[in-house]
Amino acid sequence: MKIPFGNLKRQYQNLKESLDIATQKVYDSGWFILGKELQEFETNFANYCGANYAIGVGSGTEALHLSLVACGIKQGDEILTVSNTCVPTLSAVTFAGALPVFVDINEHSYTMNPSLIESRITDKTKAIIPVHLYGQCVDMKPILDLANKYNLAVIEDCAQAAGAKYDGKMAGTMGNLGAFSFYPSKNLGAFGDGGLILTNDSKLAETVVKLRNYGQDQRYYHSIKGFNSRLDEIQAAILNVKLPLLDGWNQQRRAIAKRYTEAFTPLGLICPTEAVNCDHTYHLYVIR
Ligand SMILES: Cc1ncc(COP(=O)(O)O)c(C=O)c1O
Repeated sequence: MKIPFGNLKRQYQNLKESLDIATQKVYDSGWFILGKELQEFETNFANYCGANYAIGVGSGTEALHLSLVACGIKQGDEILTVSNTCVPTLSAVTFAGALPVFVDINEHSYTMNPSLIESRITDKTKAIIPVHLYGQCVDMKPILDLANKYNLAVIEDCAQAAGAKYDGKMAGTMGNLGAFSFYPSKNLGAFGDGGLILTNDSKLAETVVKLRNYGQDQRYYHSIKGFNSRLDEIQAAILNVKLPLLDGWNQQRRAIAKRYTEAFTPLGLICPTEAVNCDHTYHLYVIR
């Protein structure tokens, strides 16, 4: 029997009325880029995570790339991350001109093993990208301590961790910046590509706001070199409808994962474990 991993058609049918009203409002407004829906979503997401600033961008890959650029990462810098991440984490690093340097993972959590970081740091190391994978948060405390000791930026890759918590803190609020993806199949998914950057740092927020919009300070004044990477109004309207449902969906995923674990364990399969200080959002079952 084939069990679908996620059913986006069913999700749309369940939310059809509110999604159709929300998107129709955007069509009727005639305003599609950098408008009220995005402002509302940025406020909603920042409040949900308890961060000062949320900036909607074009995708998770661009959220990572713009975060690296905002931190001043340049040609020849080394960025510590993991090799079992999705390729876009590495695309962002290489597009920023930097070199990804891999730190091995913890075999139980599948996330970066903080005890292996220090040996990978050189005088070219400028940032760490811990990847919260399958909703499981990386053990952040030792990473933040090392980043502090060596003066490294920390950019959390939260593409798979909207709503996950570590020691009671929301993913994306612990490093200098947090990069999210709203690719349709993510646990908080738009109806196209989308991403967002969280930060508590006003200077970084200001830079990202410019970077996503051709480097503009105000219309036709381009103070830095920028990109075109904006979360559009239709995607923001959809995400405004879905965000209040995220915690419930995450709980549902964990309940389903618990049922799989109960059913698989007696068969001798190794099931994923939850890190003690992490509230995850979903799980991956690996048959080893
Ligand atoms: C861990 C991780 N990082 C980055 C990305 C990139 O996100 P996007 O597809 O929105 O560019 C993904 C998406 O698949 C991901 O899973």
